[in-house]
Amino acid sequence: MERRKIIAGNWKMHKTIGEAIQFIDSLIPLIPMVRGAKSEIWIAPAFTAIAAAAKKAEGSSVRIGAQNMSDVDEGAFTGEISAKMLKEAGAQFVILGHSERRSHFNETDEHIHHKIKRALSENIPAILCIGESESERESGRTQEILSRQLAIALAGFSPNELSSLIVAYEPVWAIGTGKSATAEMAQETHKAIRFQMEQLTSAQIAASLPILYGGSVKPANIKSLLEMPDIDGALIGGASLDVSSFSEMVLQG
Ligand code: PGA
Repeated sequence: MERRKIIAGNWKMHKTIGEAIQFIDSLIPLIPMVRGAKSEIWIAPAFTAIAAAAKKAEGSSVRIGAQNMSDVDEGAFTGEISAKMLKEAGAQFVILGHSERRSHFNETDEHIHHKIKRALSENIPAILCIGESESERESGRTQEILSRQLAIALAGFSPNELSSLIVAYEPVWAIGTGKSATAEMAQETHKAIRFQMEQLTSAQIAASLPILYGGSVKPANIKSLLEMPDIDGALIGGASLDVSSFSEMVLQG
């Protein structure tokens, strides 16, 4: 079955408003939109640059989103940003449960579940990130860890509610390390994720679910990853910061 393909850039804490605008300005002419780029192009700048980037990207095929979001609607939560605020700024998707949020800011699977719930109720498509650490992989616990992350984050939703979800498999040991999973290793894991998603939703929803791979994706390895049947795109950190390497990856996608 034909699934959506998404090449997503996660800029993390990089790029000022000016730098974000400059990037989008340079990116748009490089995308052969009219000739039908096969992959959707998604970019998650820092919160402060979302509005300006979204405005710059208007009318193009580039979608701007956020890297995180509060699970609460509004209230006394100093430093937090709500789904409504993000949508108003022009965010069209949100990344949730990134491993840096889990490890540096103690986000738990339960907390991520509430964020997914908020994203669904606000109709903002979410990319749910899951991934195992190096020691978890070495001790043969990869599947157990990923299953737990998915089961808790997605507990209690109806299959239909999850039809807009995107999953990103990002092995923690591959993020920012230059050490990507091999295409075969990633494929095997993506296949297992899709199988579990079938149990959690339905065969039809699992078959149309985009599962992105993330972790040291770069122009040199993206093609072999995307050739795999269950890898539907990439979530890219470091290599998405440079417009020529990002556009090269989009064109390979
Ligand atoms: P990386 O990061 O491409 O720099 O490894 C990926 C991510 O954290 O989403």
